[in-house]
Amino acid sequence: MNVLVINCSPVRTGATAEIVRIISDHLSERCFTKTICIDDYAFQFCRGCRTCHKTARCVQEDDIPAIISEFERADIIVSVSPSYWADIPGQFKAFIDRCTPWCNTHEPHAAIGSGKKGYAVALRTGPGMKECERIIQSIAHFYGHLEIQCCGSLGLCSVEQKADAVSRKDEIAAFCETIRNSI
Ligand SMILES: Cc1cc2nc3c(=O)[nH]c(=O)nc-3n(C[C@H](O)[C@H](O)[C@H](O)COP(=O)(O)O)c2cc1C
Repeated sequence: MNVLVINCSPVRTGATAEIVRIISDHLSERCFTKTICIDDYAFQFCRGCRTCHKTARCVQEDDIPAIISEFERADIIVSVSPSYWADIPGQFKAFIDRCTPWCNTHEPHAAIGSGKKGYAVALRTGPGMKECERIIQSIAHFYGHLEIQCCGSLGLCSVEQKADAVSRKDEIAAFCETIRNSI
């Protein structure tokens, strides 16, 4: 079983990265896990030209296919996103926009392999869970259009730095247990 854990923050050493590490460590006991950071890749914004609605391909050439290859290799995808202004970070949104060639709302469209399971983790510094739910909804919406089945989520409030994430490791471990039990 291959698991892809994505740091959807541009920060490679922050709270999101720490949650990615904890999840990856837990799941590595039973699965082959790979972690990536959205900022490891260079890609342009979607131009909104809709060429992909007719061709199922983007007119731009950059690292998007490399990220999609990681999705292809994975049976389980875990997206871990911080709240930036009560939403997903711009880099992650730009990636989602560029997944339009693989989006099932138009024909023809490209498609990643079927049967993949997705999980969404949201974190924020503020105290209210509603903002985490909004981020989880964005990720679930993205999964839905790539036909990745969204199987679970975790919201973590009051997390700003790496140390805050470490102090929540039991909660994160319990979440990983639900993923492991579904394998
Ligand atoms: C540009 C920016 C905007 C943010 N906006 C919010 C916000 O609207 N609500 C919130 O609770 N936290 C917000 N935060 C805090 C982050 O969600 C929190 O610090 C998270 O742990 C950042 O993880 P990272 O360092 O791995 O990116 C923001 C942080 C940044 C850098």
